[in-house]
Formats: sequence, C-alpha cells, structure tokens
Amino acid sequence: MLALVRTPNAALDGLAATAAGRLRVVTGDLCDPELGARLLSESGDEPLDRLIVNAGITGPKEAPGQRATAAELGELFLTNALAPLRLLEALAPRMATAGVAACLSSQMGSVSLARAADMPLYGASKAALNSLLQSWVAGQQPAFAVLALHPGWVRTELGGTSAPVAVADSVAGLVATMEAKASQRGCAFLDYQGQALPW
Ligand SMILES: NC(=O)c1ccc[n+]([C@@H]2O[C@H](COP(=O)([O-])OP(=O)(O)OC[C@H]3O[C@@H](n4cnc5c(N)ncnc54)[C@H](OP(=O)(O)O)[C@@H]3O)[C@@H](O)[C@H]2O)c1
Repeated sequence: MLALVRTPNAALDGLAATAAGRLRVVTGDLCDPELGARLLSESGDEPLDRLIVNAGITGPKEAPGQRATAAELGELFLTNALAPLRLLEALAPRMATAGVAACLSSQMGSVSLARAADMPLYGASKAALNSLLQSWVAGQQPAFAVLALHPGWVRTELGGTSAPVAVADSVAGLVATMEAKASQRGCAFLDYQGQALPW
C-alpha cells in the first residue's frame, strides 16, 4: 500500500512503522504532471485495487470575479479538478477490474444542490472535478468503479473545529461506501454514508 504526502509527517511515518511493511509513504505533489508515472514505477507490477485521491484545497474565498488572482484560480482548479483526473488517467491501466477509484469531491460541487453559496470558487472546482470524472468514464468505459465522494463536513484543518463529523467516522463510511461499489462499473457521486448525491 502506498500513501502519498506532500509534507512528510511523523504520524504517518509512525503508522508505516507499525504496518509491518504493508504501508509505504511516498513524498510528492498531486499537481506534479509526472506523479502518475512515478507512482506506477514505485508500486510494482500488481494490479491496483483501490485508488483514493484525497488532496484538496479551499482556494480563495472571495466571490468569483472579485479579488482572486489568475494564479490562485489556476492552483485551485488544477489541485481540485485537473490533477485528480490526470492521476486517475495515469493509473487506470494498472487498475484491477473489480477495483474502485475515488476522488474526494464535496456536496458543494453539486450544481443542483447549490450548497456553495459561501465558497463558490471551491464549489465550482469540485463541480469541475465531478464533470471531468463523468466525461472520462463516459469516454473510457473503465472496467472499474469511479466515485466522486463527499466525506461529510469533517473536523479537519479544512473543515474546521465546528464540523460535526469526526475523521474516523468519515473514513469508516467512505471505506464502506467504496467497498460496496467494488466490481461495479460506472461513475457515481456518493456521500460517506453511501447516499447518492445529485450531480
Ligand atoms: N473537511 C471537510 O469538511 C470536507 C468536506 C467536503 C470535501 N472535503 C474534501 O476532502 C478532501 C480532504 O479534505 P481535508 O478536510 O482532509 O482537508 P485538509 O485538512 O486541508 O487536508 C488536505 C490535505 O491535502 C494535501 N494537499 C493539498 N494540496 C496538495 C498537493 N498539491 N499535493 C499533495 N497533497 C496536497 C494537504 O497537504 P499539506 O499538509 O502538505 O498542505 C493536506 O494533507 C479534500 O479534497 C476536500 O476538498 C473535505
């Protein structure tokens, strides 16, 4: 099992140390265009059963058209939408037939729910991710499942201390949601409790 981090940290190193060689921590940036090729060479020849693209950023909080710079917008849409799709594309040839590839999206990316009133740029970047995943699945017809997952409003650095969902509960729900989709083809937008969200 490979875990990618941009910034090495002692907690993950400790986890790897207790995993008796089953978890290896690799340092890298999701936005690096060579990341997919590097992970393929680091992961040996075995098929990949699960892929989770978790990294994401909130980006500038201003409403569109106000103070966000081109560089900020580029980083937001590259990190949250294009880079996850690029990594999926790179790793797809190695994905197991019954595999599951998931990208962390957000219910703020639901166009029909329109829940991103406070963070419209972030919501737009996750809507772009959802759209790219749907288009890629429609074009490539992969033999594995592709999921856009909403983890709930979770108490992380991004979610803040007021968020109602603990990391452990979100992760347990996300894992169960992914496992329920193993061996199923197609693209779905689901929350951490396995409920379908409207695109
Ligand atoms: N928390 C919520 O309530 C919530 C709700 C809906 C969706 N989500 C989504 O769930 C995912 C995880 O969110 P979170 O709450 O855990 O966020 P977080 O606490 O801000 O953590 C984000 C992680 O992404 C990493 N990252 C950012 N850009 C990266 C890059 N270019 N390359 C590699 N790693 C990068 C960060 O690394 P560094 O430590 O190096 O910065 C950090 O470890 C995100 O996609 C987020 O949009 C979260």
